[in-house]
Amino acid sequence: MYVVAGPSNPQLSFKIANELEARIAKTTFKRFPDGELYVRVEDVKEPVIVVQGITSNDDLVYLLLLLDALSSLEPILVVPYMGYSRQDKEFLKGEAISIRIVAKILEDFAKNVITVNIHSNVAASYFKKLIHVDAMPLIGEYFKNKDVIMISPDFGSLERVKVAAKVAGCEYDYLEKKRINAERVEVKPKALDVKDKSVVLVDDIISTGGTLVEAAKVLLNSGAKQIYAACVHAVLVSNALNKLYLSGISEVIATDTIEKQVSKISVSKILSEKIKELLKK
Ligand code: R5P
Repeated sequence: MYVVAGPSNPQLSFKIANELEARIAKTTFKRFPDGELYVRVEDVKEPVIVVQGITSNDDLVYLLLLLDALSSLEPILVVPYMGYSRQDKEFLKGEAISIRIVAKILEDFAKNVITVNIHSNVAASYFKKLIHVDAMPLIGEYFKNKDVIMISPDFGSLERVKVAAKVAGCEYDYLEKKRINAERVEVKPKALDVKDKSVVLVDDIISTGGTLVEAAKVLLNSGAKQIYAACVHAVLVSNALNKLYLSGISEVIATDTIEKQVSKISVSKILSEKIKELLKK
C-alpha cells in the first residue's frame, strides 16, 4: 500500500502511512518560474491513498495534478480540509457554486473521497459518494474530565458542539442573537450561566477569527473565568491567532486537518480507520 503525501499535510500523511503500515510514495512538487506547478509520483501500486487538503489555490492545483499523475490507478483520496465548501450555493445570481465543480472533478478521478467535517450538508450534497469523518469527538476527548462548558458561537454549530460536549461529559449551549430594538442586538448564551466558568468556544472552522473574537467578548462580559477556542480546521488567515489571543482567549486548540502550531489533536487515527474499512470492502 502507498500513501502519496501531498504538500498540504506532510505530517498527517506520515502518521496515516505509519498507522496503515504503508509506504510513502516518492514525489516531486515544484513551481516553474512562471508560477505553474508541477507534480511527479514515482513507482506506486494499488492500493494508493492520496492525502491532500485544500487550504489554498496552490493546494487545489497540486491535488488536480496528483489525480492526473495517478489517473491509471483508482486512488482513495483523503482531503482533510475541503476548501471551497463555504461557497455551497448561489448567494448572488451568477455566482459559481465552487464546491460543486470541486466535487465533480475529485469524484471523476478518485475511487473514494474522504473528508473531515465538511462545512455544510449542502456542500456534502454535491458529492455522490463522500465519506465523512467527524473530528468533534476528538475535541471532546481533549477536554474530558476538565471542568469546562462548551459553547457554540451560533445556532448553526450547535449540533457539532453537542457531539464534542457529550464525549467531554460537560454542559453545552450556544450564543443567541436577540434584536432588542432597531439599534440594539443582544448576544448571550441561550440557557447557561457562564459566570466564573471555564468556557470552550467550539466551531468547525476558525478563519479570520472574527466569529470567536466576538463570542469571547460576550462571554468575558458575562463573567466567564477562562476561554478556550477549539476548532477542527485552523484556517487562521493572516493575524487571526493574534486577534484571538488579544481578545482574551487563553488557548487555541485545533486538529491537524490543516497543519498549524495549534494542531494539538491528530485526525490520523480516525482517517486510518476509515481507510482500513474501505480497503476491507
Ligand atoms: C461559519 O459558518 C463557520 O462555522 C465559522 O464560524 C466561520 O467560518 C468562522 O470564520 P471566521 O473565523 O472568519 O469568523
